[in-house]
Amino acid sequence: MSKYSQKSILKTDLRPATIAIVGVGSVGATTAYTLQLSGMIADIVLIDINKDKAEGEYMDLNHAAPMTTETQVRVGEYSDCVDAAIVIIAGGANQKPGQTRMELAAKNAKIIEEIIPNVVKYAPDTILLIATNPVDVLTYASYKLSGFPTSRVIGSGTLLDSTRLRCNIGRYYNISSDSVDACIIGEHGDSELAVWSRATIAGMNLAEFSAATKQEYDKESLHKIFEHTRDAAYNIIKRKGYTAYGIAAALTRIVEAVLRDEGSLLTVSIVGDYYGIKNVALSVPTKVGRDGAHHIMDLTLNEKENEEVKNSAKKIRAACDSLGL
Ligand code: LAC
Repeated sequence: MSKYSQKSILKTDLRPATIAIVGVGSVGATTAYTLQLSGMIADIVLIDINKDKAEGEYMDLNHAAPMTTETQVRVGEYSDCVDAAIVIIAGGANQKPGQTRMELAAKNAKIIEEIIPNVVKYAPDTILLIATNPVDVLTYASYKLSGFPTSRVIGSGTLLDSTRLRCNIGRYYNISSDSVDACIIGEHGDSELAVWSRATIAGMNLAEFSAATKQEYDKESLHKIFEHTRDAAYNIIKRKGYTAYGIAAALTRIVEAVLRDEGSLLTVSIVGDYYGIKNVALSVPTKVGRDGAHHIMDLTLNEKENEEVKNSAKKIRAACDSLGL
């Protein structure tokens, strides 16, 4: 799979775009920097209720600009979302050590309730890209609050988890993660699942690839790889207090897929009916391009995976129900 760092060296095929970021905490600020380094973006607007924090980030980012790309960064108000091709929502509380993403639902839903109508007022045609956790619940909340079509409310979902999984599988087999086709679907959180039945390397399933390369095909080790992937954020937060680089790169990847009108299948979260559960936002491979994200197919799963993704969908729906969404 291509990466923005490789594709962005030549920027000539892109129209100048403005991206607004609402919430300039560690995720918002790191995303601004990642977007700036990507060379894809002409103009980044930072919006935060803490003006000093936004200004500090803007000043710091501007010092990087002459040595990197000439992206303009500025501090703005909601009214500055007016020209934004994409508005990234990264405001809200982040997980404390040991806390689940779902435990942030009530608190961050209130913050989203404040943010979304303000963005929509000035940018009725933009694409909302939601990063705030629990991202699936808040993607659904943003869909309801905005009145936008499902295609224009995209949650970062399990794109980062799928990347973590491919990276961990690549390490296990000692090959580049670029050569691994595997994904995590469902909730970006504790009920997510790895779709082992569809994981391939060079077109072979993992059992075949293991046999062909005389490596061990050990389901227990693969399950540990999944657990390590699922729990990555807990392990990072325990050590440094928050995660930022991975999610910033994932958000930049989604921005790239939109601006370049790629039609890439990314595991982002959008509202839809999944595996018999109606009106829920969760991740499956979803087509992303200039007009947003489209749920074009259900991944065919084995019985166990089917059960797991259904449970994941039910869990997200129940969280939405409890918030009156
Ligand atoms: C993580 C955050 C984005 O998984 O939930 O790093």
